[in-house]
Amino acid sequence: MYITIEMIDKATQAVKERLERKPRIGIILGSGLGSLAESVQHPVIIPYSEIPGWPTSTVIGHSGRLVIGELEGQDVMVMQGRIHYYEGYTMQQVTLPVRVMQRLGIEILIITNAAGAINPDFVPGDVMLITDHLNLVGMAGLNPLIGPNLDEFGPRFPDMSQAYDRELCNIARQVAQRANLVLREGVYVGLSGPSFESPADLRFLRLAGADAVGMSTVPEVIVARHGGTRVLGFSGISNKANLDGNTITTHEEVLEAGRILVPKLETLIRGVLQTL
Ligand code: HPA
Repeated sequence: MYITIEMIDKATQAVKERLERKPRIGIILGSGLGSLAESVQHPVIIPYSEIPGWPTSTVIGHSGRLVIGELEGQDVMVMQGRIHYYEGYTMQQVTLPVRVMQRLGIEILIITNAAGAINPDFVPGDVMLITDHLNLVGMAGLNPLIGPNLDEFGPRFPDMSQAYDRELCNIARQVAQRANLVLREGVYVGLSGPSFESPADLRFLRLAGADAVGMSTVPEVIVARHGGTRVLGFSGISNKANLDGNTITTHEEVLEAGRILVPKLETLIRGVLQTL
């Protein structure tokens, strides 16, 4: 079953009823990165379970609530915890929050995720500016736009040549430089998970040009771009992907790295918001 405009508007209405101001910027916080939402001022907090049709996050490290308020003088809507395809939701359900953001009038989406480093130069604790993505899951048939096109949002065949907004990328680079923060850059590959990659998977992904690997983001970005929302994406590198087969990747490791990554991401996001 596909998500219809009526379903999107029902969820949108439930959020709208609780808001006094119109959010302009959406922020999605990835695994272990949710504490950023605590900086939002004058927050209206809406648990996902109170929004009709909104999927709830089942993963440790994802709170599952909307925090809507002000950050650096901007009206923001923060998703504290996201929904993943591997939790058993459809791609349309996973990306319903982005549709609701678009119906609320959000113009810019700042996306974060936890990711494994494939690029051998990256180390846990690094932040990578996402300059492009590899839609491996979508190429294999799981594109969130499959089904009747929602013409209210965008065209049947949307362009993805500049999925990550060049101007927003430049702002992020400037913010990083001013804050003396090393900002890596690269291609994010989105897989379904939930199993981590085998060494052979990782060698394949490296050959394909990926710098970081994770289990989210790409479907959200595709839906954002379909609806004309501008996107800025950051991967928090939580672990070295296990190319040689000699180390083990765990979810605990991913959450632990979040503690180092949150202050860096907070600096970047605050700096970008100040500039916008
Ligand atoms: N692989 C896939 N997803 C991830 C990883 C990883 O190594 N780290 C954090 N999310």
